[in-house]
Amino acid sequence: MSDIDQLKRTAALRAAEWIRDGMVLGLGTGSTVYFLLEEIAAQRSRGAWKELVGIPTSEATTRVAKRFGIPLATLDERPRIDLTIDGADEVDDELRLIKGLGGALLREKIVAQASETVVIVVDRSKRVKLLGTHAPLPVEVDPFGAHTHDDFFTSMGGRPVFRSGPDRGLVRTDGGHLLIDVRFPDGIRDPAALEARVNNRPGIVENGLFIDLAHHVITASSSAVEVDSLAAARR
Ligand code: A5P
Repeated sequence: MSDIDQLKRTAALRAAEWIRDGMVLGLGTGSTVYFLLEEIAAQRSRGAWKELVGIPTSEATTRVAKRFGIPLATLDERPRIDLTIDGADEVDDELRLIKGLGGALLREKIVAQASETVVIVVDRSKRVKLLGTHAPLPVEVDPFGAHTHDDFFTSMGGRPVFRSGPDRGLVRTDGGHLLIDVRFPDGIRDPAALEARVNNRPGIVENGLFIDLAHHVITASSSAVEVDSLAAARR
């Protein structure tokens, strides 16, 4: 296993300590969450967490969870989630996030919003002083008139690129939308204002800025595992 995967696994296992049997558990998307799913399967094979129910945030997570035999429900069946554990692409010191490089940002945000507690698991490379430093901002848009957003993003200093897959065709999300990755070369100075401005535009379904949604962030580095909490970050 690579060093970075080892850190992802460490963060995921630390988050797994928060799981209690009988919980409705939001299951995030991505390679870090994969280690969480693996751990849930391991615990269940030892007879633990038999009453746990997972709410997956993507079709990809649904497939892996089913393969691991993890019981699942839909958000309509279980609209109140006790705990969600998910990854992120960037995290700043106020625990604001960029998510969506895995393409699941809309369902991830709906699940986070429905969760009593949201724990984000990352390796140290995802921690930044300024959001947008490494990752573009993924924006999910309706395919109708999708290119009408180009000038909108350019006018605010962004560089929009439609996301394409290995076959060079445009990527479709689980909801059938397109993704625009908007790079902000100077970073995102006011994430809350940007989130509101972007989401206020007709045709835009959701964007990957998660503000005040992460209650705790677990960051694994080669020397330590740190747990940061929103309440403390706000002080
Ligand atoms: C999925 O849409 C994203 O929000 C993921 O949570 C994010 O890309 C983290 O993925 P990794 O754990 O693979 O880095």
